[in-house]
Amino acid sequence: MKPVRKVVIPVAGHGTRVLPATKSIPKELLPVVDRPLIDYVVNEAFEAGIEHAVLVTGRGKGAIEDYFDHAFELEAGLEAKKKTQILDSVRACVHTAGAISYTRQQAPLGLGHAVWCARDIVGDEPFAVSLPDEIVARRPGYLKQMLNAYGEVGGNLVAVEEAPKEETSKYGVVAPIARKGALIEMSGMVEKPAPEDAPSNFRIIGRYVLQPDIFDLLEQQEKGAGGEIQLTDAMNKLNARQTFHACINEGEIHDCGSKLGWMKANAALALENPDFGDAFAEFLRVRL
Ligand code: UTP
Repeated sequence: MKPVRKVVIPVAGHGTRVLPATKSIPKELLPVVDRPLIDYVVNEAFEAGIEHAVLVTGRGKGAIEDYFDHAFELEAGLEAKKKTQILDSVRACVHTAGAISYTRQQAPLGLGHAVWCARDIVGDEPFAVSLPDEIVARRPGYLKQMLNAYGEVGGNLVAVEEAPKEETSKYGVVAPIARKGALIEMSGMVEKPAPEDAPSNFRIIGRYVLQPDIFDLLEQQEKGAGGEIQLTDAMNKLNARQTFHACINEGEIHDCGSKLGWMKANAALALENPDFGDAFAEFLRVRL
């Protein structure tokens, strides 16, 4: 079994659900407490043992590349003022040279298309996909748990969590065959089914492990829901030939792709913050 060494992180979308905040700032740079979304996701991947992150960027997303590079003037200023702790946090954003690559999706034609843009950098090996609007703050992160599961069952994996049955029409859900512990062997995925038609209430969240054969299917560039090239459609086709498991992870994932989700993530992580969590809790108590 080939190891999973690379993660594809698509960051080329328009982030329409959080406009106008994302008019001139990439959604992936929206902060949760003191770090942008993309930082959580890249760190989660490297901590899981991933060696190389491939960011699929687009127009107006250049600030993401700057975030992962040195900011010499800023660093020199902090050094001169002996602001060591802040300086360390700024330098921690710069990973080993060559560990992050960027490729460009010229138009946001869909998540499947964004992943396909990374095909040459990924090559003929299994890879992970992480969506940066869903962040995990606790360790081990979801990707680590998924890579452990991959070591057991191989094939392809999607991360899932249980959603209220009446909300299945908001998500992609999996069709289960059999469950063993935290792993569910699945026969396919259904996008946004009505509760009465839903094969389960396990919703797919933004972490995947995929075999490179997915690229041949994405190459066909077939449009699906919303006129977009959907990753789910290609995964369903691959599921007809290869095994897929849904992985129920431990811990909490925050969906920051909507305004409410982003606010909840900020509140949850602010409450846990060792420097000001108690003060923030008091602030909320007074207002509720
Ligand atoms: P989303 O659908 O959540 O992001 O895609 P979006 O399209 O930016 O947001 P809305 O729906 O308009 O509010 C998940 C991730 O996939 C990327 C997005 O940047 C986001 O990080 N993506 C999506 C692409 O890179 N290209 C696409 O064509 C679509």
